[in-house]
Amino acid sequence: MTIKAVIFDLDGVIVSTDQYHYQAWKKMSDEEGIKFNETINNRLRGVSRMESLEIILEKAERTYTPEEKIALAERKNTYYRESLSEVKPDDMLPGAKHTIDELKKRGVKIAIGSSSKNTPTILKQIGLADAFDAVADGNDITHSKPDPEVFLLAAERLGVPPEECLVVEDAEAGVQAAIAGGMNVAAVGDAGLHSQDADYRLERVDEILDLI
Ligand code: BG6
Ligand code: MG
Repeated sequence: MTIKAVIFDLDGVIVSTDQYHYQAWKKMSDEEGIKFNETINNRLRGVSRMESLEIILEKAERTYTPEEKIALAERKNTYYRESLSEVKPDDMLPGAKHTIDELKKRGVKIAIGSSSKNTPTILKQIGLADAFDAVADGNDITHSKPDPEVFLLAAERLGVPPEECLVVEDAEAGVQAAIAGGMNVAAVGDAGLHSQDADYRLERVDEILDLI
């Protein structure tokens, strides 16, 4: 395959913020007396904040009004942002920085395609605010993964056709989004290793360097 660009998901691929999403949802769920665990959390990977909340509320013993739902999502985001204020370059996942540097050396374009509205904050915290040729995130899109919108936007901003892009994802929703967008996809991490539909299943992000 000819790969001219790599589009990285952010949470759980470049940086370990997926853990902080889990902890923030867990705190909110415990306060509300709603069952929440790692299995449910895996369904939230790649999914927008409000859609994640709807998945969590499947286990709630009462219904919540639209205003209450907004308040719950904001509460979770407040807890999450408290963790983000502590995020440092050390929180990058093993091999992520080397992969970015090596792709740049090889002249492969790189982008972020993330559902998170906190993407700009996270990139700044880890010192990668200017590292990517394009960033498409939760602030730019109407439909979150598994819709391909965020990846198609990233590819358009890079000026590379979808079929020449490789998406790197830790979420099944992201794998499906990449496929729907006509892109190649490598799944990484625990969730990624179980993805049936990905073109490649890798433990670490730097393994993509052997594919390109
Ligand atoms: C994705 C995460 O990257 O961003 C999801 O995998 C999260 O778990 C989504 O819900 C939205 O994030 P945020 O920061 O806008 O609440
Ligand atoms: Mg992710």
